[in-house]
Amino acid sequence: MNIKLSFSPVSQVQADLMVVVLDEARVLHVVDDPAIAAHVERAASGFREKTLKREYFATLPDGARARALVVYWSPSLKSWNLWENVKTFTARALRLARDYRYASVALLVNAADAAPLLGKVVEGAVLGAYTFDRYKQEKDEFLQKEAQLTIVCHPDHQADAEARRGRYAWVSENVNQARDLINEPGAVVTPAFLAERAGEIAKEVGLEVEILDPAGLKARGYAGLLRVGQGSPNAPRMVILRHVPRQESAETIALVGKGITFDSGGISLKPGDHMWEMKGDMAGAAAVLFTMRTIGRMAPDVKVIGILCCAENLPDANAQRPGDIFTAKNGKSIMVDNTDAEGRLVLTDGLARAGEEGATHIVDIATLTGAVVRALGPSVAGILGTDRGLIERVIRSGENHGEAFWELPLVDEYCEALKTPYADLNNIAAGGLAGAITAGLFLREFVPEKAAWAHLDIAGPMFRDKDWKYYEAGALGFGVKTLVDLCERFHEKE
Ligand code: BES
Ligand code: MN
Ligand code: ZN
Repeated sequence: MNIKLSFSPVSQVQADLMVVVLDEARVLHVVDDPAIAAHVERAASGFREKTLKREYFATLPDGARARALVVYWSPSLKSWNLWENVKTFTARALRLARDYRYASVALLVNAADAAPLLGKVVEGAVLGAYTFDRYKQEKDEFLQKEAQLTIVCHPDHQADAEARRGRYAWVSENVNQARDLINEPGAVVTPAFLAERAGEIAKEVGLEVEILDPAGLKARGYAGLLRVGQGSPNAPRMVILRHVPRQESAETIALVGKGITFDSGGISLKPGDHMWEMKGDMAGAAAVLFTMRTIGRMAPDVKVIGILCCAENLPDANAQRPGDIFTAKNGKSIMVDNTDAEGRLVLTDGLARAGEEGATHIVDIATLTGAVVRALGPSVAGILGTDRGLIERVIRSGENHGEAFWELPLVDEYCEALKTPYADLNNIAAGGLAGAITAGLFLREFVPEKAAWAHLDIAGPMFRDKDWKYYEAGALGFGVKTLVDLCERFHEKE
């Protein structure tokens, strides 16, 4: 997607498709072309009088500034967020352009106070133009190869418009790369593949990197990854990426991602229905990897460690059995009651490593439980943790970019359910209630002392089965935008 900025008045802009967003509360555009202004006025009264719902489309006569005009309506309702709407409308306009073969699209956000929207338009365009079609014979590459989007901005905002464009295009490109990796089948994205990719990325954007293969894991006592991975020919890896800022940073954030490249359940095999979706069980690790790639270039003033816990959970003659017991890195023994509760096992190693790296703040991100999907559905991720400030920061960072998190409580008394006569902890909770919470309680046992901790359960928003907002069906790359924002403004004063 080719994106250009223009600071010219509309009367000097020429495009195949012109796009205007009307917000009920604020004026976002300035139109000095009377023919276009008349159409926009007609659209506006249609929306207000409710004779039009959300969209106004008109083809324009020869000699007009554009061949067609589309006007979108963003009503002031609590459930409607202008920033999200602008992204959705941008994506929708680009799909319209693709279907009608309008090669040049001009979108107007040129009112004096519409500057912040420019970044959202860029995001809507980059995320909206994404498609995972590499395995299809029939591809439509119009948006990628031929379309050009011109964002018309107010002339006073030239400098910050460029900065916004750069930031949002870079973050969005990384979200798309995370989507690619999550959409790829498990036969392609193995633990070794993820590690190799992480190594390339580290080189590309200047991050420190360390990769542990099974021998390295064994030498350091990272038993969770080894146990989960022992039934797969694709052996586990731990990847550690470091962004070290120029100035000394008092705080160190560790981002720990669950990277199960395929989760069959293991010997506690999952039912076949929808099992294919478990190729996305590395969405947490993908989010961490592309957050690290993003900030490698952005270079925020806080130290950030990315830890990917990569393994494949398959049943075979060497796989873990229900009833097996092992000792995690922090000394606690775990009975593997159910081999399908594998995410929490590999995360014990990631959390331990975060402690060894000196993390003051730990955020883990994982497609951890089906229970969180039942509780919150596909649009909202769960968040649990021990530090109010960190939880609130993550929620706020998510709100800034259209990623929703809802806090679930760590109910202490449910710890009872994780007891077993055979080990310090059972890996599933008796009774099967509140599965997202008991998974959080299990992880809490492995959080290094003194570190502030938040756990993001993104099992719901990992995939979408239909197109949603500006996303096509499939992986969302959920979490990248939130984690980048968190790192970016970590040292920002309130
Ligand atoms: N990867 C799954 C969780 C999951 C389910 C992610 C649906 C995305 C969509 C996880 O490893 C798992 O299997 N969890 C079990 C835990 C249970 C055995 C305690 C679950 O949720 O059923
Ligand atoms: Mn599982
Ligand atoms: Zn899993």
